[in-house]
Amino acid sequence: MNNFCKLSVNINKIATLRNSRGENMPDVIQVAKDCERFGAQGITVHPRPDERHIRYQDVIDLKSIVTTEFNIEGYPSEKFIDLVLRVKPHQVTLVPDPPDAITSNAGWDTIQHVSFLTEVIGVFNKAGIRTSIFVNADTRMVENAVACGTKRIELYTEPYAKQYAQNRELAIQNFIAAAHKAKEVGLELNAGHDLSLDNLAYFNQQIPHLKEVSIGHALICDALYYGLENTIQMYLKQLQVN
Ligand code: PXP
Repeated sequence: MNNFCKLSVNINKIATLRNSRGENMPDVIQVAKDCERFGAQGITVHPRPDERHIRYQDVIDLKSIVTTEFNIEGYPSEKFIDLVLRVKPHQVTLVPDPPDAITSNAGWDTIQHVSFLTEVIGVFNKAGIRTSIFVNADTRMVENAVACGTKRIELYTEPYAKQYAQNRELAIQNFIAAAHKAKEVGLELNAGHDLSLDNLAYFNQQIPHLKEVSIGHALICDALYYGLENTIQMYLKQLQVN
């Protein structure tokens, strides 16, 4: 049976571009609609406390126009939790990034933070919002994610992407082990960070039960050269498994 892995486009970079000039160009809402029109199966946003990328109001506005899967990711501060409960996306992805981080740079320690995560995930479970938590490709962290009450995890793929060009067989090893562990303990699997046209197809082939990838930086950079519609089609092609 063919795997079906969704492509969720992270549109934070679009908001960063808009914010750099203070007007509404590019229009984040229109870009989200266009990503869906061009074939994306999900839209991801990552509001940060200083709103330097996506703003809280964007997230609220997007809720009524996103027709595919809406995924909000971020650190579960009180303000973030309130926003997610208000917007009720299909999925919330919890990320342990400090407020001033340029981008997410590690997964949760699911052993050290088990009580905090259990509490927060409990709130979202009660509200009927699927939770995914961002974890490194470390079987201990994956195994313990179950104890936090999550149904899904997102593997942090930067280490894979960094090593891919030198040795992709080695780069994928920990991810295969983490994916096996996830399957064994009954967790669904997403992946994200630094996935690109170069490294995406191999990742998806090696991890056949992947549910979703969320991709921002490389995809938006590629769109400068290929255009958004072509780029989304090219990414979707990487996810086809024959
Ligand atoms: N997943 C998470 C949890 C992230 O924080 C990010 C970056 O915001 C991504 C995926 C997407 O990473 P990239 O922009 O490198 O594709």
